[in-house]
Amino acid sequence: MAEHHPESIPIGNPATDDSALSPLTVEHSAATMSQLILPSDANPMGNVHGGTVLKLIDTAAGVVAWRHARGPIVTARLDEMSFLQPVFIGNLVTVKASVNAVWRASMEVGVRVEAEDLNSGNVWHVASAYLILVGIDRESRPRPLPPLSARTAVEQRRQREAQERRDLRDARRAALEQRAQAGSANR
Ligand SMILES: CC(C)(COP(=O)(O)OP(=O)(O)OC[C@H]1O[C@@H](n2cnc3c(N)ncnc32)[C@H](O)[C@@H]1OP(=O)(O)O)[C@@H](O)C(=O)NCCC(=O)NCCS
Repeated sequence: MAEHHPESIPIGNPATDDSALSPLTVEHSAATMSQLILPSDANPMGNVHGGTVLKLIDTAAGVVAWRHARGPIVTARLDEMSFLQPVFIGNLVTVKASVNAVWRASMEVGVRVEAEDLNSGNVWHVASAYLILVGIDRESRPRPLPPLSARTAVEQRRQREAQERRDLRDARRAALEQRAQAGSANR
């Protein structure tokens, strides 16, 4: 069960006016954040720590989800994550995040991470990730979110793919529960 938020956390209250559950566009909440990689972000060989990239991903996804939710959110799941290419000290890392799909209290945020060599201007794809974030109320209970208005063909494709990932998660969980029940019945 989720914990109660201490009053000292400045997250504010969820919006409760009439517009709180009006559909919001992808553009409304999309965010781009950049950070220069410093020696403290990297290992002795100069490669960025995976955790540094993960923190940037979680922060950008949190900003997007908070904007869409108009109130507190928590990260429930990092659904998929691949590190594709390395990042080094002195590179500029840029994280682009946007909402892919919204269900009742949860949403999927897609994040793309790119790095830039500031000397050459070369840009490369570092990582992509999908996160599930959940809107919560002051008692940390899940609460309904504004629906998503996916307007462009790309936004609609991302929404469909997010639904497929959710269906796969549900099917996997159901299969595991079924196997666990069969296992306990045979004991
Ligand atoms: C996320 C959290 C609020 C969910 O609470 P809960 O009582 O389990 O909520 P429910 O089972 O009613 O699920 C609410 C929604 O979240 C989704 N959800 C919850 N956990 C999920 C998970 N692990 N993966 C994907 N979706 C999840 C549910 O599918 C549901 O979606 P919907 O309402 O859009 O259909 C609770 O588990 C929590 O507080 N977790 C800790 C979060 C945290 O501290 N994050 C920081 C990471 S260090």
